[in-house]
Amino acid sequence: MGDRFNTVAGWALFAGIIALGGAIVSSKYYSSERPEKMGYAIEGVEAEGEGGETGPSLNTLLASADVAAGEKVFAKCAACHTVNQGGANGIGPNLYGTVGEAVGQGKGGFAFSEALKSKGGEWTFDQLDHWLKSPREFAPGTKMTFAGLGNPADRANLIAWLNTQGSNLPLPAADAAPAAAGDNAAAAGNAANAAEAPAQNAANAAE
Ligand code: HEC
Repeated sequence: MGDRFNTVAGWALFAGIIALGGAIVSSKYYSSERPEKMGYAIEGVEAEGEGGETGPSLNTLLASADVAAGEKVFAKCAACHTVNQGGANGIGPNLYGTVGEAVGQGKGGFAFSEALKSKGGEWTFDQLDHWLKSPREFAPGTKMTFAGLGNPADRANLIAWLNTQGSNLPLPAADAAPAAAGDNAAAAGNAANAAEAPAQNAANAAE
């Protein structure tokens, strides 16, 4: 009886060990396949609250962009990109006049990935913002091995500076801020900014 019990207990223990081992192995195996971000990104559909929607919109950031700060952000890009007119393609294409240009066409015969070439459309401010936030999400399979710029203000400053490099498209006006009662001073300030922006744009366009 005692022997039999030991045998049964032995098998039970053995089975337990196998099950545990299997669980460990499968968890290792499957966990490595788990995507960084769960869920599917559906193209053209913007996730609600994306990029901390509580912050100012791209238009607002662009309207008050710090172009000089944007030039500094470009240091992160300069390893792969030139931006001067007629500049050489490096690991990435020359970016002179890219704002407003067709996506993935470029100049000087740069060999774009199929992912970017087939994307279509133009480099609007908005498209650039999405691209620079996460190149991989914007064009899965892109050759641009750059993780992206997480800070919306950095992106806006950079885009505003890039725009001065051969494009000079008019920047969008700031979105009207919902003025809270008693916040008249701030609202007036915003209105002044918004009024300033088109004047600046006109000056840029005239250049
Ligand atoms: C590690 C190298 C690398 C870095 C860093 C990099 N890029 Fe790129 N970039 C590329 C490559 C390669 C491509 C071509 C992508 C493709 O064909 O899929 C590209 C493409 C682009 C394009 C599309 C150009 C066109 O004509 O369609 C833009 C715009 C761009 N990069 C901007 C930037 C900016 C701005 C930064 C800095 C925040 C940056 N890149 C950082 C390598 C890089």
